Amino acid sequence: MFESIKNKIKNFEPLTKNSYGRLWNEKSGNNQLDWYTEMHNSCLPMHEDFIDFLKKNSFKTILEIGCGTGYYPINSRDLFKDKIYTGLDFSQTAIETCKRNSKFDFICTDFIKFNFEKKFDFIFSHAVIDHVYDIEKFIEKIFNLSTKYAYITSYRGFFSELEKHKMNWNGSEGSYYNDISIKTIKKQLTSLGLKESEFNLRSIKVDDNGTDDDYQTIIEIIKETSNN
Ligand SMILES: C[S@@+](CC[C@H](N)C(=O)[O-])C[C@H]1O[C@@H](n2cnc3c(N)ncnc32)[C@H](O)[C@@H]1O
Repeated sequence: MFESIKNKIKNFEPLTKNSYGRLWNEKSGNNQLDWYTEMHNSCLPMHEDFIDFLKKNSFKTILEIGCGTGYYPINSRDLFKDKIYTGLDFSQTAIETCKRNSKFDFICTDFIKFNFEKKFDFIFSHAVIDHVYDIEKFIEKIFNLSTKYAYITSYRGFFSELEKHKMNWNGSEGSYYNDISIKTIKKQLTSLGLKESEFNLRSIKVDDNGTDDDYQTIIEIIKETSNN
């Protein structure tokens, strides 16, 4: 797994209003592009699984949360031809790169706080839930904003026995490192009204180092009835 993202907690600082997202906002230019590309390439089995999901299901409007510098809408744009793709990221420099290199729509904002005027058929997000400051709101908002499909991945492991999410704040990066409790996600999706047949929480093996992140978590939602 990509080394700088794998870093454990180095130091602690109190969470201040402006410190969330420091790492993502400090990067720019080729250094930032290389960083996102390396991150993408370190999760190829997961991306294959995701592309499989994309091809098996049909949707028109798509929101990607945490699109970074736009690996999907730029390098894999053919996946979204004939679809209406919107990319969203907290990092202003990343979204500027997306807008320079793609004709799709992009929004620079905090997904958890942003008020959307419309819903999307499909919402996906790779390696973002691992870092957010409110996991429950992140999931709830995806659930409410998606009319039918969602695909969310977490790269830090598959924590099937964890009773609660474990959140660690890294003050020097301005980011959390979250271990996602599968039991908690299951309870939340059920309490939001989904039947067991409408979601799938599964692991995918991506490495063989004997560490938690040899496995990644995939959260799939397919609502039986679309709520437009
Ligand atoms: C670890 S990177 C993953 C990037 C890309 N999805 C990938 O898999 O390579 C996390 C991304 O999520 C974005 N992000 C984190 N919290 C966010 C939030 N609350 N709202 C929008 N974007 C957020 C960051 O700016 C960063 O680009």
